[in-house]
Amino acid sequence: MLSEKYKVLSDPECMPLIEQAKKKLGDKIFILGHHYQRDEVIQFVDAVGDSLMLSQTAAKTKSKYIIFCGVTFMAETADIITGDDKIVLHPDLSAGCPMADMAPASQIRRAWKELEKVIGDTSNVVPVTYINSYAETKAFCGERGGVVCTSSNADKILKWALSQNKKVFFFPDQHLGRNTAHRLSITNDQMVLWEREKENGGLSEDKIKSAKIYLWNGCCPVHERFKYDDLKTIRKRDPEIKILVHPEVPEELANYADYMGSTQYIVNKIEQAPKGSKWAIGTEIHLVSRLAKNHPDKKIILLGTPICMCSMMDRISPQYLLWTLESLVNDKVINVVKVPENITQNAIKALDRMFELT
Ligand code: 13P
Ligand code: SF4
Repeated sequence: MLSEKYKVLSDPECMPLIEQAKKKLGDKIFILGHHYQRDEVIQFVDAVGDSLMLSQTAAKTKSKYIIFCGVTFMAETADIITGDDKIVLHPDLSAGCPMADMAPASQIRRAWKELEKVIGDTSNVVPVTYINSYAETKAFCGERGGVVCTSSNADKILKWALSQNKKVFFFPDQHLGRNTAHRLSITNDQMVLWEREKENGGLSEDKIKSAKIYLWNGCCPVHERFKYDDLKTIRKRDPEIKILVHPEVPEELANYADYMGSTQYIVNKIEQAPKGSKWAIGTEIHLVSRLAKNHPDKKIILLGTPICMCSMMDRISPQYLLWTLESLVNDKVINVVKVPENITQNAIKALDRMFELT
């Protein structure tokens, strides 16, 4: 818990103190930051990126301490893919991802048993989990010949899973699963939604037997708020504006957007866009605001009216970052993310498979 000493500090008061602590720690630390982090945090990170880039960077870092400014599944992934000589810290361990919470391994195991009862043999099903899941869910997939994917490699990974002539169970984001499958020409009648609260996912035995892809009924509460109606209104107002979305948005919106991709894809698209171009972006507000600020020569707006903010990403504040850094300066290692060895052993199989395929 953050102590009073840090709680009373304003953001501007934290800035020089973070700077000083970083200087004292030097090469001992490497700070990673996801694109959805606040500007006050992003200014101190050594690398910024989407989930795939950040995990690749974590795997390569030479520093002993990796400080992960993002949500906890990202820090867990960094711990899984780095050796015991690296220590991963997360400034606020309460910053989990609600989508990852929707697919606990216990629920997945139950669904798998139900599936087995109906189809007889689950060795014909490849479990694929979005990286936005906890280590135990990744381990479940790794143990069964499955794989992890991110928003930037989901096409490749799903293509690989389907190329084995097997069925696919996709966790936890139904939208990423469906939107990616559409890109591979899989139609909605070949997919079913597995409602995790219901027995047999709420599906008839016939539906379970005939489906090619089972989509877990998880979603991102932030991206679910972007609506097709918002796209229609914006296009009507300005037919020239380009619609750029993250693949966690619902199907209808994804189908009609001009471009869709990971947060890094969104950043690259805007960086490469011509001066004067106009964009409505369907992703988290911190990233959209930063893009608008960094590209005053382009018109950039948020797609839709409600402010779509990831409150979990927002939990990482300068105060929490300072606390983590100053503790290290005082030889106190706090907020360590350590995945148990038995889970790591299986989760790494699913992550390594992803790296090989990417
Ligand atoms: P990216 O991998 O595209 O950065 O997505 C992570 C995420 O949590 C999006 O909601
Ligand atoms: Fe999770 Fe959505 Fe936040 Fe991404 S934006 S970390 S998927 S809740």
